[in-house]
Amino acid sequence: MKRIAFLASGRGSNFQAVIDAMRCGEIPAVCVGLITDNPGAYAITRAREAGIPVHVIDYAGYPGKAEYESALIRTMQGLQADLFVLAGYMRILGVEIVREFHGKVINIHPALLPSFAGLHAQRQAILYGVRVSGCTVHLVDEGMDTGPIIIQTCVPVLDGDDEETLSERILAKEHQCLPLAVKLFCEGKLAIKGRRVFLSDGGPAA
Ligand code: GAR
Repeated sequence: MKRIAFLASGRGSNFQAVIDAMRCGEIPAVCVGLITDNPGAYAITRAREAGIPVHVIDYAGYPGKAEYESALIRTMQGLQADLFVLAGYMRILGVEIVREFHGKVINIHPALLPSFAGLHAQRQAILYGVRVSGCTVHLVDEGMDTGPIIIQTCVPVLDGDDEETLSERILAKEHQCLPLAVKLFCEGKLAIKGRRVFLSDGGPAA
């Protein structure tokens, strides 16, 4: 069984979707902890209800990013996880952490990367006027939302959409894509070749 840990900053609905899939046996893994930078994150309540250990590393409690990141790296090392899932973690991971856990960190982003990286991706999509958007699960590298793509799913952008309605439509897809990506990782089915991620038994992950 793989050991999975999560980093989340807020509501935690993606975290919930993955732990639900683990609990019903769809993903061969155990959840070894939730790390959050936000003591007010609702993800903490979800973790406690599921009996998952919570590590609060309150960003505001550190003099700066370097000190925060060294507390974070120590906590991540202590969890001995095979995979770290960024599930609505709203900070950029420092280079040292990305290097230490190379190939072991994935992120869910609410847009079709490489479009609309960074914050407020759904708002960026509405403002730009695209007709389709979606979500992307990708490995984390040293850039912002630039790592190799594991899964993408698209949704239409409708004339009546605002940021909120588009976000809801994308979120429903996120809750399918993130558990699927974690499952493929845990089953050892992802083969990473440069920028491209393949199912090890042939064909791109879809
Ligand atoms: C999700 O839409 C996720 O894709 C996004 O934050 C939301 C978290 O929701 N992440 C980012 O924008 C990362 N840059 P959740 O807390 O309910 O899972």
